[in-house]
Amino acid sequence: MNIEDQQFRMQGVSLNELAKTYGTPLYVYDGQKILEKVSLLQKAFSSVNLKIKYATKALSNINILKLMKKAGTGVDAVSIEEVHLCLHAGFDPHEIMYTPNSVSFDEIKSAVDLGVMINIDNIPMLEHFGTFFGNEVPLCIRLNPHILAGGNAKISVGHIDSKFGISILQLKHVLKVVQAYDLNVIGLHVHTGSDILDAEVFLKGAEILFDAAREFKELKFLDFGGGFKVAYKPHDISTDIMEVGEKVSAAFRKFCKEYGTELEIWFEPGKFLVSESGLLLVKVNVVKSTPASTFVGVDSGLNHLIRPMMYDAYHDVVNISKLEGPERVYTIVGYICETDTIAADRKLKEVQEGDILAIKNAGAYGFSMSSNYNSRLRPPEILILNGKAHIIRERETFSDILKNQVDIGII
Ligand code: LLP
Repeated sequence: MNIEDQQFRMQGVSLNELAKTYGTPLYVYDGQKILEKVSLLQKAFSSVNLKIKYATKALSNINILKLMKKAGTGVDAVSIEEVHLCLHAGFDPHEIMYTPNSVSFDEIKSAVDLGVMINIDNIPMLEHFGTFFGNEVPLCIRLNPHILAGGNAKISVGHIDSKFGISILQLKHVLKVVQAYDLNVIGLHVHTGSDILDAEVFLKGAEILFDAAREFKELKFLDFGGGFKVAYKPHDISTDIMEVGEKVSAAFRKFCKEYGTELEIWFEPGKFLVSESGLLLVKVNVVKSTPASTFVGVDSGLNHLIRPMMYDAYHDVVNISKLEGPERVYTIVGYICETDTIAADRKLKEVQEGDILAIKNAGAYGFSMSSNYNSRLRPPEILILNGKAHIIRERETFSDILKNQVDIGII
């Protein structure tokens, strides 16, 4: 989305017109941008046998999933519901990686029944798996590499205190279980965290995976998870994907040679593929000056985009109603009745009631983490493809708030 061109258009479609037609708040995604990111990743890893498993949880609208499928990716699903969604969108079971955490063995059995690749992340489930399936169902094992990396404590998941994966220090125990049940382990997996900038972190993860992989004889793939950092503001640094591609591919090719098989290399990017494609368009309800700051209150909030409040995430904001004019400093806040700061101390073109603001990087973990908090309705989603806007989710209505509530009628 080239919002910097000051025309405030996405693939030629006017964002202000979209706000007029569909109302606000409104999520808008640039399909072209998503396809470009898929191609870029494919290019960065063109010298190895890359399989992209898009992290469904980042943005799970079925049209986005279909776009990924068309672009040639598979998917990573973290719940049985996401598995069903991916199947519904047209993915073949073998294209779906199921990476749950803290789920019941019943859910894992359901996933096996659906024919998807199972990624096991704890020893008790590995034992259940062995008892129930023996070597009949291939599986992947998620290891915790004990690398501390990622943009925020809440999204750093590869460290020693994290609930994810089986500690690399427990590899001997894992091997015993694998041997005892004759498990058919065809993949190993690590996911270190989100917003990881440094190529070295991926290389470190790779070395740990290679070391573990030497203990398994029948591997078909190594899965490096997701976590590439994207740019959140103009001139922000982001993971240099070509550098990661070059370095990790070289190490991977070397390992495959030693291992004696040309393995597949899997990545599960979420943010990298969809973050920058998305905008949340909101309308200014009020401009409120206090002795300390000037607040801009908008018709959305942490119920629609929780990242600023949850992870202190930075989202760039642009006043798309003003091409010209002076800039002033504002704190943009949502309408939720608790502290709900979307962006503090930002320079925007002078804001007036009714102006439309575009909140950037809203493609990943925006809509997918939204809620009905304060009994507010969730926004519609628009996908722009080939210069045309398509509504891919309707705005909720009041009946959605009542849906599933049971009025027992005696009060
Ligand atoms: N694979 C696994 C096993 C994951 O747990 C995740 C994300 C990904 C892949 C994709 O990571 P990505 O490429 O998007 O960084 N809601 C947070 C991010 C949580 C990520 C959780 N796991 C946020 O908005 O920053």
